[in-house]
Amino acid sequence: MSILQTHRRPPLVVVDQVTQMRGIVWQAQQQGSRVGFVPTMGALHAGHLSLIQAAREECDFVVASMFVNPTQFGPDEDFKKYPRNPEIDLKLCAQAGVDVVFQPAVATIYPAGYTTFVDVTGLADVLEGKFRPGHFRGVATVVLKLFNIVPADCAYFGQKDYQQQTIIRRMCAELNLPIEIRVCPTVREADGLALSSRNVYLNAEERHSALALMRSLHLARERIRELITNGRQDLTTVRQEMFDLLSKTPRVRAEYATLIHPETLEEVTDVMPRLVAVVAARVGTTRLIDNLIIET
Ligand code: PAJ
Repeated sequence: MSILQTHRRPPLVVVDQVTQMRGIVWQAQQQGSRVGFVPTMGALHAGHLSLIQAAREECDFVVASMFVNPTQFGPDEDFKKYPRNPEIDLKLCAQAGVDVVFQPAVATIYPAGYTTFVDVTGLADVLEGKFRPGHFRGVATVVLKLFNIVPADCAYFGQKDYQQQTIIRRMCAELNLPIEIRVCPTVREADGLALSSRNVYLNAEERHSALALMRSLHLARERIRELITNGRQDLTTVRQEMFDLLSKTPRVRAEYATLIHPETLEEVTDVMPRLVAVVAARVGTTRLIDNLIIET
């Protein structure tokens, strides 16, 4: 355990052991505290900080985890080069009012010979799951493990990863986990680009091209409103236009651009009261995702 001094609150506690982490949460709860938990992979930005702020507002005691989870990265993905700034992250956590950071070693979470995984079948196989096979198996597994290590009252996730929060909510419901899940809005740069730890990979030209994701989502919302005004229902052309906008942008390679049901994540063919526009694309070599909830 180490500590980092701040002005306003007790010093931030950093824990890397499972038993100690669980003990701290139990003790806080015994003292009547409502415990909030914000799981992250570090490389913190204002999106992560918004989750911490929400936890701070609703809870008495806030735990954040920083763990770059190897099981959610494919063999050709960026696990090794994923941005890691633990010192800056700890300072940001201290400033944001986190009480405890859980920062385990990989061998603590996955000891040699580790064999148990969680599969949220169906939901995990579409969209991101198609392009990143095994990704959500890694996410669901680590999140369940983290919930067992940090048995908080409430955990905070971002809408930015729409499919991820859907899968986690489904896992919690189906496995009867005694934790509330809160989903917080996507935090964006001034020009609309969704904040992501991976944005640091983008060069200036790619950063500009990356705005195509958000534009594709806005186009979807506009076109759906036009369809409704014209008394039409069929979303086929909207989906195509979303994809085309991405594809025609220099440096962008579209992976998917579609309209889905907010809970089942199935593609919807006709206008419905609430749907979600979702996009994924490579910008240069960087893979980005974004989404927009559309209420009609
Ligand atoms: P990470 O990408 O670090 O994100 C941690 C949390 O921050 C997630 O809930 C994510 O949705 C949220 N987040 C990221 N960008 C955001 C933005 N621009 N606005 C609002 N929230 C944002 O997601 C993961 O880590 C991992 O998969 C994890 C759940 C920690 C499991 O390893």
